[in-house]
Amino acid sequence: MERPAWAPRSIDVSVPSVSRIYDYYLGGSHNFEVDREAARKAMEFLPGLPKISQANRAFMRRAVRFAVGEGISQFLDIGSGIPTFGNVHEVAQGARPGAHVVYVDHDPVAVAHSQAVLAGNDDADVVAADLRKPREILDSAPVRRLIDLNRPVALLLVAILHFVEDADDPYGAVAELRDALAPGSLLVLTHASYEGVPLPPERAGGAVDVYHDIRNPLIMRSREEIARFFEGYDMVEPGLVPMPHWRPDTAPEDEDPYAFSGFAGVGRTA
Ligand SMILES: C[S@@+](CC[C@H](N)C(=O)[O-])C[C@H]1O[C@@H](n2cnc3c(N)ncnc32)[C@H](O)[C@@H]1O
Repeated sequence: MERPAWAPRSIDVSVPSVSRIYDYYLGGSHNFEVDREAARKAMEFLPGLPKISQANRAFMRRAVRFAVGEGISQFLDIGSGIPTFGNVHEVAQGARPGAHVVYVDHDPVAVAHSQAVLAGNDDADVVAADLRKPREILDSAPVRRLIDLNRPVALLLVAILHFVEDADDPYGAVAELRDALAPGSLLVLTHASYEGVPLPPERAGGAVDVYHDIRNPLIMRSREEIARFFEGYDMVEPGLVPMPHWRPDTAPEDEDPYAFSGFAGVGRTA
């Protein structure tokens, strides 16, 4: 297979990746047939995956604008993915020129693509690192250069924690990051859940099996389990809610029912 310019040499293009599957759900072009095959298989069980992904991106953009409105000018986006339209740096720097943004992802395609998109942008950078090792993220050169941990930060963990198994202590990683942040920092989070999916869990579970088969397990957590990630934060209104219900720009009533799967919330450190 011919390797496109955006695909780093280090990657095995015969193995599907979570970030490229997500890119496919969002109509992006940074995916291979193996990714599209896995995505289509997951969509056989959960046809609303593109709608869920769009609702997730729309929430993220609203939350970034909210953070800028709260006076935040630094953003740490872990699990940033393959930038598609309306990225964190575009939204943040559009609303507040000079806002600092650091993207973090462990997927080489996501990192390479962010590097390309951010070329010439001195106020944004990307780190190849793993959420399960928060210290490496906090000690990385881009974070040291662009993020002043003595001032409030918006920490984005958007559609990433459902890829971290309990055995890898996602709650510990989130707590370690929280403890590094100044008071007034925000946690912006979304997470997949069977709650709200307009299908019986057994059927939606077929999509989970697809991720299991590609050795990137997708962990559906309950609302209660997701709420625990906000320990040490005060929830910003309206709390932990289906994505379209978080401070919508327009009334969400006519949205596709799938868009209401999973949960979104923003918390603030005291
Ligand atoms: C579904 S995408 C979400 C992208 C973006 N945050 C959004 O919501 O539009 C999940 C991203 O998290 C990344 N990811 C998954 N587990 C990770 C980990 N342990 N450390 C860093 N990145 C991770 C994947 O590579 C992928 O790019």
